[in-house]
Amino acid sequence: MSELRLTTTNDGSHSLLNADLNEHYHSQHGALQESIHVFLRSAFDLVQKPSVSILEYGFGTGLNALLTLHEAEKTKKKIHYTSLEASPLNADITEQLNYAEKAGIDADLFANLHRAGWNKVVEISPFFSLEKREQRFEDYSPEPNTYDLIYFDAFAPNYHPEAWSADVLTACYKTLKTKGIWVSYCAQGAVRRTLMSVGFDVEKIPGPPGKREMLRGRKA
Ligand SMILES: C[S@@+](CC[C@H](N)C(=O)[O-])C[C@H]1O[C@@H](n2cnc3c(N)ncnc32)[C@H](O)[C@@H]1O
Repeated sequence: MSELRLTTTNDGSHSLLNADLNEHYHSQHGALQESIHVFLRSAFDLVQKPSVSILEYGFGTGLNALLTLHEAEKTKKKIHYTSLEASPLNADITEQLNYAEKAGIDADLFANLHRAGWNKVVEISPFFSLEKREQRFEDYSPEPNTYDLIYFDAFAPNYHPEAWSADVLTACYKTLKTKGIWVSYCAQGAVRRTLMSVGFDVEKIPGPPGKREMLRGRKA
């Protein structure tokens, strides 16, 4: 397990520094505001269905899952949330994270996301089921035409190029339903070109505070 350090980002929400990679889990401009902008406002809000299946690459701190769970409760949408993670965090770290407090969400919900067992489906609430899969992105072959949304939250391509390979992004494309959405904080031209080469319609859209652009792909 890499050495991890708790950090505080500019909006007051925590993040982690992977000291081996020297890479942060979130934008230093604000972890909470980045997650809300990239995954909720730029992707989740676009799916107008009563039941939504989401696949996340990188469960990490569980921040995206927490915010999506909260949206599920507010909108009464039924969310099936699957998340891949090669290195689950220990409770001594997750118990320090201030996301529930900063987002004004019940702290028990956040604790329940982390207490949920791995590699099985757990009903966190009537509106949110969670399957955390302890698995490398590169080894996962999801079923075709399964997900409405993909939250792609891997470490940046310069730190972890394999996560952004044509093979991984092809698996993303195949597992999305028609009109499904892939979204990431990343705006790199090379990633954009790989997304296009595997079939996505790709847009560069405004990024979260501190970042001009980010990428969103759609399965035609
Ligand atoms: C940028 S962090 C973001 C995680 C999470 N979404 C969050 O908000 O905390 C990337 C995550 O991907 C995980 N990861 C890195 N390489 C991986 C791999 N090959 N397969 C699966 N997970 C990986 C890391 O452990 C880390 O939790």
